[in-house]
Amino acid sequence: MNEHTSMRAAFRTSQLEDADGEGLNPTANRTMGEIIAARFSRRNFLRGSLAATAIAATVSPLALITADNARAQGATSRFDFKEVEAGVDAHHHVAEGYDADVLLRWGDALFPDSPEFDPTKQTPEAQARQFGYNNDYVGFIPIDGSSEHGYLVVNHEYTNEHLMFPGIVKVVQKPDEKDPTKTVAELELADADENRVNVEMAAHGGTVVEIRKVDGKWQVVRDGAKNRRITAMTEMELTGPAAGHDRLKTSADSTGRKVFGTVNNCAGGVTPWGTYIMAEENVHGYFMGELPADHPEAANYKRMGIPESTYAWGKFHDRFDVSKEPNEPNRFGWVVEVDVEDPNSTPKKRTALGRFKHEGADNIVSKNGHVVFYLGDDERFDYVYKFVTAGTYNPDDRAANMNLLDEGTLYVAKFEEDGTIAWLPLVHGEGPLTDANGFASQADVLIETRRAADLLEATPMDRPEDIGPDGKTGRVYVMLTNNTKRKDEQVDAANPRAKNAFGHIIEIAEKDGDFAATTGTWEVLLKCGDPSVAEVGATFSTETTKNGWFGMPDNCHVDTSGRLWVSTDGNSPKDTGRTDGLWAVDTEGDARGTSKLFFRVPVGAEMCGPLILPDEQTAFVAVQHPGDGGDDWDGFGRPSYYEDLSTRWPDFRDDMPVRPSVLAITKQGGGRIA
Ligand code: FEO
Ligand code: CA
Ligand code: CA
Ligand code: CA
Repeated sequence: MNEHTSMRAAFRTSQLEDADGEGLNPTANRTMGEIIAARFSRRNFLRGSLAATAIAATVSPLALITADNARAQGATSRFDFKEVEAGVDAHHHVAEGYDADVLLRWGDALFPDSPEFDPTKQTPEAQARQFGYNNDYVGFIPIDGSSEHGYLVVNHEYTNEHLMFPGIVKVVQKPDEKDPTKTVAELELADADENRVNVEMAAHGGTVVEIRKVDGKWQVVRDGAKNRRITAMTEMELTGPAAGHDRLKTSADSTGRKVFGTVNNCAGGVTPWGTYIMAEENVHGYFMGELPADHPEAANYKRMGIPESTYAWGKFHDRFDVSKEPNEPNRFGWVVEVDVEDPNSTPKKRTALGRFKHEGADNIVSKNGHVVFYLGDDERFDYVYKFVTAGTYNPDDRAANMNLLDEGTLYVAKFEEDGTIAWLPLVHGEGPLTDANGFASQADVLIETRRAADLLEATPMDRPEDIGPDGKTGRVYVMLTNNTKRKDEQVDAANPRAKNAFGHIIEIAEKDGDFAATTGTWEVLLKCGDPSVAEVGATFSTETTKNGWFGMPDNCHVDTSGRLWVSTDGNSPKDTGRTDGLWAVDTEGDARGTSKLFFRVPVGAEMCGPLILPDEQTAFVAVQHPGDGGDDWDGFGRPSYYEDLSTRWPDFRDDMPVRPSVLAITKQGGGRIA
């Protein structure tokens, strides 16, 4: 791949997540035999904008009257705040009566000896002592059960070189593919040198940092004894059924158990025993080089899109070049567990949870004490998974839980047309997962999770992102961000729109409210997009205002009260006339399907996080890749890069670039969020 193409490719997360490919699932093109009508939630259907035209034939007049009455009385939302106006500008905006304070910015000190942030002279050593780039998942591990003192754990998903480093960007005019009489401005990056690559590696990974609320405001405890940076260089251990397998061995590691670093940590989780879970998502971009076509891993890597050569790390670190270290990619794409109580502990890559493009790892204890992890594989036409531990959680003995994630059953979801769900176990020797299909052991099943799930005929989804369980109801919310490549003949009940540009949210009800159940039911909670445009087919309730709808649901959080919060990735001046943000979505009663905008990000950013603390007095949000864009915003109208930024959020200083940051949102004068 040509260097400039690959460097341009690194500009946006959407390149990694949203590449113009058709998806990598070779089985997804099968025709369903017939086009199956979307299975609408009747309530959503009634409230949807298409209701007036399409509804008459399918719903009784009585049902329509009932729906009208509900509207007339005003649906009862469980959220109480004045919503933010949707739009685009260089700043963030939070609902009236709330403060959104910057808690941690890229480059902020995490230790007493952290060097002061100087973006013009950044070094890997300095970066490894500072808050990393592109904050994504935000979790909180309380100290002594407090909602005012604990460890904040934050993933640093990836780096945007054109926004981070001075003097490396050239603006060039390229022919406009849509109109050959015109040109468009594009950015080209200078080839990476070793220092830049090592800064990038140190800016990846995660942060563990002690924080405390003092007089109603959150502070970083810089001398916190457990503060820690995890990077793409941190030593880790591979554990579980695939650990030690030949396919995980490299020239640097003859054991197949020792690996350096974690990359592209998107969403994640916190376990009931207080460990930090980092999910490895788009790992393909970190590998370069070529594998011989007849190499035994060729098909495995093709299914994962490896190598993608987004980053130049392999020029300076052989392990990221598949022609030199052909097994290294098998050591990435896992879920990582970090014991935050010991800042010198070796993070564990838990192979039992499978290898794919892990979006998140939200988890919950089942009725019988098993711990259930919900796992999305973020690729067009890939799958929804869950993992159920073999052992049970012991709330009285932390040590007894520390290796729970090494044994259990990984399941993949089949969303049936009749509204039931089957969780299919990925177990070696069962069904097609045998020697005959190239699976000699459970290690093979886990290393090639996607191929195993293909054989089980799981349901190919519209890019599964975060998945949030609700402990109060036994229901589970699945964010499906979009899939414009789904064709009419590929539409199914769980993915009801072809060319699904705006995504949807599925609600699963596990059988008997038991998260460990292998069956349940499901329905589409929301089809996203602008409900005033009939062709979009969005199903927000009619109570939802022009500010309240969104596209591209990505991360989610169910708060202590069981209320659903959704953050988005991909709203823009061009696509939706709004930036990304945090939306409060009603799931209960009359207001079900109503959405309201609580917070919005500055231009170019994506909204990650979000987290509402157990006492519901603080919301943490992560503003990721701010200033990455602005071409299609009237307020800027050209490519944004270090020397010419669409926003200098959050400092707005001429000598400081835009900085991804985590914000703490509190109610002015104290009180419950929303
Ligand atoms: Fe990193 Fe699927 O978003
Ligand atoms: Ca992202
Ligand atoms: Ca995303
Ligand atoms: Ca994401």
